[in-house]
Amino acid sequence: MRGEIMESHIRNIDLAPQGQLKIDWVAGHMPVLNQLRKEFEQELPFKGKKVVVCLHLEAKTAYLAKVIQAGGAEVTVVASNPLSTQDDVVAALVAGGIHAHAWYGATEEEYHQHIHQALDFRPDYIIDDGGDLVSTIHQQRRELISHVQGGAEETTTGILRLKAMEQKGELGFPMIAVNDAQMKYLFDNRYGTGQSVWDGIMRTTNLVVSGKTVVVAGYGWCGKGVAMRAKGLGARVIVCEVDPIKANEAWMDGFQVMQMLEAAAQGDFFITVTGDKDVIRGEHFKVMKDGAILANAGHFDVEVNKVELKALSEETRVVRPNIEEFKLKDGRKIFLLAEGRLVNLAAGDGHPAEVMDMTFALQALSLTALTEQVTPLSAKVYPVPHEMDLRVARLKLNALNLKIDELSIEQKEYLSNWVHG
Ligand SMILES: NC(=O)c1ccc[n+]([C@@H]2O[C@H](COP(=O)([O-])OP(=O)(O)OC[C@H]3O[C@@H](n4cnc5c(N)ncnc54)[C@H](O)[C@@H]3O)[C@@H](O)[C@H]2O)c1
Repeated sequence: MRGEIMESHIRNIDLAPQGQLKIDWVAGHMPVLNQLRKEFEQELPFKGKKVVVCLHLEAKTAYLAKVIQAGGAEVTVVASNPLSTQDDVVAALVAGGIHAHAWYGATEEEYHQHIHQALDFRPDYIIDDGGDLVSTIHQQRRELISHVQGGAEETTTGILRLKAMEQKGELGFPMIAVNDAQMKYLFDNRYGTGQSVWDGIMRTTNLVVSGKTVVVAGYGWCGKGVAMRAKGLGARVIVCEVDPIKANEAWMDGFQVMQMLEAAAQGDFFITVTGDKDVIRGEHFKVMKDGAILANAGHFDVEVNKVELKALSEETRVVRPNIEEFKLKDGRKIFLLAEGRLVNLAAGDGHPAEVMDMTFALQALSLTALTEQVTPLSAKVYPVPHEMDLRVARLKLNALNLKIDELSIEQKEYLSNWVHG
């Protein structure tokens, strides 16, 4: 049943109680965001403002939406990926007074329709993940460009797109690059992706990782986490890179480094996490072992070339939820998880709450930074202010009850002098 409640388009409002339980569970593990929520309830930094949040719609993002709502905003949520929406969580948001346009398994057409419905809300501020919201505004809803006062972008891929727009002079409003804050990528991309990718693969396949050969394509912040956790699970890990520095880093971290064509013949599991397209393609499928399992953790479902995989296959079928079998013409079988979409979100619950606590604190604080501007920022991509990164770091240490030393005046002087007497 599709609900049309409070200008929302969702699957079923009756799922709200079970979605609320999920939100309550993560809220209990997000102390930094809880601290900000308390402050926002007092200070109402977003009072009278409309915010559209375009993220993977599960419990943690839902809690971020609730925190922004607690700061006085009217909030609309929309999915950044049709396969990561949890219908019960979205129902709970709607029951709690947030507008939503999303359901699990939305078709391509519905997905874009939902983005338009969210934009009909005419947001003052936006939170985007991967750049679909920003790109829709700039390509199809240009009347909103002068209305939107700014936003924050969650992920590497979205920031690449924003920087391309900025360079061409096509970005119409300021955006804050949350992904590039240290309290984001050092933890979310590395430890969050590292853990949740394996959680998604293991719960979907119910197979052992130990003793297997895992091929990780991309040794950026996410790839480092995926490779590190594969090693911890007992796998032999091969890294494929295009950046010579990252390739050296992977080698020194103890991984094998080789070209994909060579790795393709050896891997039992393949995980792409590059943000690039066609990383695994026809020539690679041709040499893969029978039973090879492919998963993607990069933002878009373009890293594994599904069209070429299909063309090499005589038959495809779904053999378990989120596992599609491609039977090749020579009889080998290759399995693709979650249609090649982000495996940790499409076939799992995404990153752990304790990690997203920091990322979403940065998102919420970035929005406050935008609302506090006396003169509007020009239409550029801005870093998260370093003090904000430090603030989130301190709040997290506080929540963990960890104390660290402080520099003495003498130490500060020593560190800032080049003459050491
Ligand atoms: N699954 C998740 O939850 C999650 C979380 C954060 C980011 N992401 C996404 O994951 C992707 C990677 O993010 P990141 O932060 O690690 O980026 P990054 O820029 O730190 O790393 C990407 C790496 O991929 C390498 N690369 C590019 N093309 C390649 C190719 N053809 N073959 C091999 N390597 C190649 C680059 O050299 C780079 O080292 C992005 O799309 C990002 O949006 C996903």
